[in-house]
Amino acid sequence: MNLLLAINGWDRVIWQERFQKLLPERQVLLAGPEIDPAGIHYAACWKHTPGSLAALGQAKALFSLGAGVDHLMLDPDLPDAPIVRIVDPDLTGRMTEWVVWQCLDWLRQGPLYRRQQAARTWHDDRHQPAAQDVRVGVMGLGVLGLDAIERLRSLRFAVSGWSRSAKQIPGVRTYAGEAGLAAFLAQTDILVVLMPLTPETAGMINETLLRQLARDGRLGGPVLLNAGRGGLQVEADILAALEDGTLKGASLDVFQTEPLPSQSPLWLHPSVMVTPHNAAMSHPDAIAKAIVEQIRNLESGQSLMHVVNRSRGY
Ligand SMILES: NC(=O)c1ccc[n+]([C@@H]2O[C@H](COP(=O)([O-])OP(=O)(O)OC[C@H]3O[C@@H](n4cnc5c(N)ncnc54)[C@H](OP(=O)(O)O)[C@@H]3O)[C@@H](O)[C@H]2O)c1
Repeated sequence: MNLLLAINGWDRVIWQERFQKLLPERQVLLAGPEIDPAGIHYAACWKHTPGSLAALGQAKALFSLGAGVDHLMLDPDLPDAPIVRIVDPDLTGRMTEWVVWQCLDWLRQGPLYRRQQAARTWHDDRHQPAAQDVRVGVMGLGVLGLDAIERLRSLRFAVSGWSRSAKQIPGVRTYAGEAGLAAFLAQTDILVVLMPLTPETAGMINETLLRQLARDGRLGGPVLLNAGRGGLQVEADILAALEDGTLKGASLDVFQTEPLPSQSPLWLHPSVMVTPHNAAMSHPDAIAKAIVEQIRNLESGQSLMHVVNRSRGY
């Protein structure tokens, strides 16, 4: 009943220490060619090397170390075990902070005042819209989208949401599926993207979609916030939309290539806020604790929680 850590891009030893402390009676092993799959019943993964889990035929669960599982879904050679994602109040709260921070920054004209301050310009603009005059449309009404909506509503933003299946959320106008997308976009001033990366959502934040956002809002143009996944967006289309005024601005936490290449024009664009895919970094302690709890629950006969639907991809 040992645990394999299949992690790329993060410090594997930190994770090994955390898990080993919580599972003292078992071996917590780092993935590598010398690992014997016999006796490994669990894997905790972040951007593992595709194919490297294929030999774990006895696996009882594959855990993602993040809320998203696109990194696992890319691998056609996964063992046939449940895929479990992280749902953690610490992570959810951090994402909501990022969304609220960015919505308030655009509402209160943060980019403009930072430019004015740099130029020592005192321009007293008396035409500040109020939060209730700004329509925030949240794409993705899952764990993260719903939490963000609650906070945005408490700040009195006019909030709506869009998801794959129809939802009813008190006080929030909701839209669903392909049929509801155009109407959702047409009434959105700030588009908040909190969706998973799947074959259906890949590249959907593109020119066609951006052109459908509201043109009559109080911010002087629509704003895009993406903290879902970089693969959802077409960065060339976002840049073109910023240039021709289709978009007023963008706050991006995720990118098609990460780290964002130094030659990307997004870095220095005056209407773009770049954060380094850390909108909702969760503490390894919290994640390790949540995964170990799931292992213990499973072994005491309870069901795993937050199991991903493989055919939907999230
Ligand atoms: N930047 C960061 O630091 C960071 C941190 C954590 C997570 N994330 C990203 O955030 C994503 C969302 O997390 P979550 O926990 O909220 O996920 P979740 O609970 O699985 O919710 C996903 C939402 O997206 C909707 N959706 C999926 N495919 C869709 C489609 N084709 N069309 C319309 N709606 C679709 C789902 O619709 P239904 O409700 O109809 O199923 C659901 O409402 C993760 O997958 C991850 O990529 C980023």
